[in-house]
Amino acid sequence: MSEQRSRFSGEKILIVDDEEVIVELAGGLLKKSGFDVLSANNGEQCLQMVAEHQPALVLLDYMMPVMNGLEALRQIRRDYPDTYVVMFTGKGDEEVAVELMRAGAADYLRKPFSRGHLVKRIDTVLSVRQVEIENRELLKERESLQSEIQQWNMKLEQRVREKSFELEQAHKEIIQSEKLAALGHISAGTVHEIRNPLNSINLFAQLLLTADDIGEENQSYVYKITQEVERIDEILIKMLAASPVDNSQLKGVNLSEVVDKVLHNYHPRIEKQQVELQLNIDRTVPLIKADALEVEKIFTNLISNALFEMTDGGTLTMSLQADAEKITTSITDTGAGIPAENIPRIFDPFFTTKEKGTGFGLSVVMQIVKSCRGKIKVDSSVGSGACFTIELPLFPDSVH
Ligand SMILES: Nc1ncnc2c1ncn2[C@@H]1O[C@H](COP(=O)(O)OP(=O)(O)OP(=O)(O)O)[C@@H](O)[C@H]1O
Ligand SMILES: [Mg+2]
Repeated sequence: MSEQRSRFSGEKILIVDDEEVIVELAGGLLKKSGFDVLSANNGEQCLQMVAEHQPALVLLDYMMPVMNGLEALRQIRRDYPDTYVVMFTGKGDEEVAVELMRAGAADYLRKPFSRGHLVKRIDTVLSVRQVEIENRELLKERESLQSEIQQWNMKLEQRVREKSFELEQAHKEIIQSEKLAALGHISAGTVHEIRNPLNSINLFAQLLLTADDIGEENQSYVYKITQEVERIDEILIKMLAASPVDNSQLKGVNLSEVVDKVLHNYHPRIEKQQVELQLNIDRTVPLIKADALEVEKIFTNLISNALFEMTDGGTLTMSLQADAEKITTSITDTGAGIPAENIPRIFDPFFTTKEKGTGFGLSVVMQIVKSCRGKIKVDSSVGSGACFTIELPLFPDSVH
């Protein structure tokens, strides 16, 4: 009778039995079917062989010294999921067989066994093993594909979020510039007209104040008139400041000189408020093409806001640096900071939290920065001061 080779011939099978005759018998039969046969005599040796060779299948005797078959079976199933185990049991061990199957055995064979029976059962177990391993690999592949899809989804969502944010910002900027344009229009057309009669009112009120027979009560009323007139005048001056920049005035401006000039003007107030000044100014920054008086307003407004927040002292930090594309300047204070809900509104014309503020300052700053094609951002939270950072691009024709 010609010996038939198994379709799994070549696979490694480990036979573990303390009875030498069983090892030899089963080993001989399996070798004839083309398997690569290994053997061990006890549970401990079995685990060493499994670790070393990782066989496809272990034929494992239940009753063995040193480590019994059940313990070896559990350890193999736990540590080597691709090694399947077929148990040898004795006659009348049906209950044991159930326990072995629960512990992960793929099948069990009662001793004594016939050749045909042994090889057939082993072939069946190896077929199941093949399908299960393929299944496991497919599952793994599916999981990795799913996690890849999830990552792509996350990336996509992130991009949608970023784009929505950019869109929202662009929309806000359009509204902002419309408001600024409206403000500039009012300033340019009307402010001068209003200031002239206002100055006359102020002049006449001052004259009244110097009259001998005015009386104390009337004098206090007239004084109030002059105060209110001055307040209107301040608002008008700030409205004028919001007028659009006239591009024909652009010339090379040295920002470090502008900073020095503005700081010089604020020096008495800085001293009076006992504010410590920290400067990190690069005096070699390239000149930018701008209107010097307009650019000055950037620093005037930001420093004025910062000092307003530090009446009881603090630190004003100013930095001015350049790289190949832009000049970056920042003004940082240690004042009360800006509540999160106000941050989106502070650049709006008319937004103010100050009793005597007009809310023009930052909108003017924004307008000038925009006219220089720059960017402005603010970092602030209540209690930790505020930091305004401005980036002004260097144009190819910037003056060195
Ligand atoms: N450095 C800062 N720290 C805290 N809050 C600030 C700071 N700068 C601006 N703000 C907030 O932003 C608001 C708007 O500032 P903006 O300069 O536009 O107007 P204002 O200072 O209120 O009035 P004006 O500049 O006309 O005197 C301020 O009222 C204040 O609430
Ligand atoms: Mg201000």
